[in-house]
Amino acid sequence: MSEERQFYVPPGGPPRTSAPSPEIYAAMGDENIFAMLADFYQQLEASSIRGMFPKDMARASRKSAAFFVGLLGGPPLYHQKYGNPMMRARHMPFPIDEAARQVWLACFDAVLADAPEKYSFPVAHLPTFRDFLAGFSGWMVNTA
Ligand code: HEM
Repeated sequence: MSEERQFYVPPGGPPRTSAPSPEIYAAMGDENIFAMLADFYQQLEASSIRGMFPKDMARASRKSAAFFVGLLGGPPLYHQKYGNPMMRARHMPFPIDEAARQVWLACFDAVLADAPEKYSFPVAHLPTFRDFLAGFSGWMVNTA
C-alpha cells in the first residue's frame, strides 16, 4: 500500500475574496500589526493545533506579521525577506484539515474581538477582513 499523502484540493479553487483595504495598514502601522500577530500566535500556542507550529512562537509570529503588513496595505516586508509567498504551497508540509482551519479562525477571531481598542484596527473594515480570512483559510486546507 502506498504511504503517499493524499492532498485535498478545495473544489472552489483559490479564494475570490478581494484583498483587505489598505486603510487598515494606514490606521494601524507596523507596530500594531506585529502586536496583533504576536497575540494571535499566543492564541495558537494555547490551541489544539499548537503542535504544527515551531517551538519559538514569537519568532513565527514576526514572520507572519511581515506578511500581514503587506496584505493590509503596507510595504511588502515578507516578499522582500522571503520571496513569493505562495501561501498554499508553504502550508503543504502541514496537514491542514477543516477542523484545523476552524481552530485557526477561532484563534484569529479571539484577537479581533478587541482589535479596535488594542491595535487601532478600523472597525469599519472588520467584517471584510473576517470574510477575507474565512475565504483565504479555505484555500490552505490540504487534507480531507
Ligand atoms: C487554515 C488554517 C491555517 C493553519 C492551520 C495554518 C498553519 C500554519 C503553520 C503550521 C505554519 C508554519 C509556521 C512556521 O513554520 O513558522 C504557517 C505559516 C504561515 N501562515 Fe498559516 N495557517 C493557516 C492559514 C493561514 C492564512 C489564512 C494565512 C494568511 C492570510 C496564513 C499565513 C501564514 C504565514 C504568512 C505563514 C508564514 C509562512 C512562512 O513560514 O514563510 N496562514 N501557517
